[in-house]
Amino acid sequence: MKLNSFKLLLAAAFLSLAVAPAAYSAAEKEPNLDANVDVSDKVSLARGAKYYANFCMGCHSLEFSRYNRVATDLGLTEADIKPLIFTRDDDDNIHKPGALMVNALRTKDAIRWFGIAPPDLTVIARSRGGGDWLYSYFKGFYKDDSRPFGVNNLYFPNVGMPHVLQELQGLQQREVDADGNPTSTLTILEPGKLSVGEYDQVAKDLTNFLVYVGEPAQLHRTFYGILTLLFLLVLLVLSYLLKKEFWKDIH
Ligand code: HEC
Repeated sequence: MKLNSFKLLLAAAFLSLAVAPAAYSAAEKEPNLDANVDVSDKVSLARGAKYYANFCMGCHSLEFSRYNRVATDLGLTEADIKPLIFTRDDDDNIHKPGALMVNALRTKDAIRWFGIAPPDLTVIARSRGGGDWLYSYFKGFYKDDSRPFGVNNLYFPNVGMPHVLQELQGLQQREVDADGNPTSTLTILEPGKLSVGEYDQVAKDLTNFLVYVGEPAQLHRTFYGILTLLFLLVLLVLSYLLKKEFWKDIH
């Protein structure tokens, strides 16, 4: 690489560093809750995948991942994953396990219904800087009659998405302070099917799943890291023995 193009690349890298943190700051008014993301918890990941298929996939594709890749990574069989496939191909056949996780929602319809097309969520955890924002967002819906779907979100003001998990969580309300100004405290107004703790787990499972989907390789990275260190350790011993062998007659 010529020096000039190298300099250009370096400048671009620094520029993107400067711009990246500002990208979402407008929406992030509240400090995020701590999701305690744990992608090694495969049971949680599998539950997250199930919730995702049932509650999200109709609107949000995961078009950079495949059903069978998710199944393999999560320790599920094809038989386990098949009931989670609701999406269909152009000939209206249910997708095969090897298919990309796309859905049939047409952008034009989505814009008519929601004002904006639901984004693909394959890399949402990365673009939102990890799982904490997602976890907060799933717990951030509250009643707001001025909004088209009757809800707003503490972490995504005036969001265009309905609260699709309302039957599980129930409906929250936003508390006001003594002067009547809205605070960041949300409390349950109408209970849903789940207790607060159970819903927290759902939010966490979904978050774990989306963090995993954004970078499936992270499940195996630690394993390869340890393997590499072990290899280097063995190499160190061998090199030392070799060195001793080479130098033994010189002293
Ligand atoms: C009925 C359609 C619909 C369903 C079902 C739905 N969403 Fe959404 N979602 C939307 C729309 C529309 C937006 C865009 C909102 C906006 O930009 O105002 C959105 C936005 C989001 C965002 C924010 C994306 C960003 O720009 O940062 C996340 C995260 C998200 N959805 C997650 C989920 C999850 C997880 C589920 C399942 C539990 C789900 N959604 C189910 C329609 C839907």
